[in-house]
Amino acid sequence: MDAMTLLHERGSMGKLTGPAPSAEQLDALYRAALRAPDHKELRPWRFVEFSGAGLERLGELFAEAEFHEDPHIDDAALNAARKKPLRAPMIIAVIARVMPDEPKVPRVEQVLSAGCAAHGLLLAAHAQGLGVMWRTGRYAFDPTVRKGLGLDEQDELVGFIYLGQLGGRHRSLPEHDPADFVERWS
Ligand SMILES: Cc1cc2nc3c(=O)[nH]c(=O)nc-3n(C[C@H](O)[C@H](O)[C@H](O)COP(=O)(O)O)c2cc1C
Repeated sequence: MDAMTLLHERGSMGKLTGPAPSAEQLDALYRAALRAPDHKELRPWRFVEFSGAGLERLGELFAEAEFHEDPHIDDAALNAARKKPLRAPMIIAVIARVMPDEPKVPRVEQVLSAGCAAHGLLLAAHAQGLGVMWRTGRYAFDPTVRKGLGLDEQDELVGFIYLGQLGGRHRSLPEHDPADFVERWS
């Protein structure tokens, strides 16, 4: 796939099946993520990769988050939370590891850089024919989940990148006209 086709046609896939990406595919994914634009080369990124029993541990963390939110929650809702990560054979949590004492690189820039790293993962997954979807949901902002994944107060959980084989067809590409979004000063 040539680069412009990839940029113009990238899409998400919510239906994901196994197997998880191979070690070689993952290496290519992370190399793409690590090419994110990065002011002052802070490398404000951290990735946590979940597969197999790791997905179940993440599900337990989601259930714990629900329980903290509502100690009277019923078992069905707890089980639904547990199952959320099992929608893919692999998830990569992308974390902005923010360095607070960088006067020239404000927090927002470091978080944006981590967002670009996440986009790098998406593009590299699509380029390799994998299915991929960026999700946050409420768990990305939940204190129990943040603590469980070892985030510091200034860090941001930019997203959970769900990865696997394509379990369906990509939806048809939406038609967007650049003119609707671009203002030109010339
Ligand atoms: C930061 C971020 C968080 C997102 N979180 C969710 C989510 O929790 N659930 C969801 O269905 N889509 C979420 N999305 C949107 C999907 O990843 C996807 O981009 C959207 O469905 C449009 O599909 P497309 O990527 O094929 O254009 C999120 C996107 C971004 C950028």
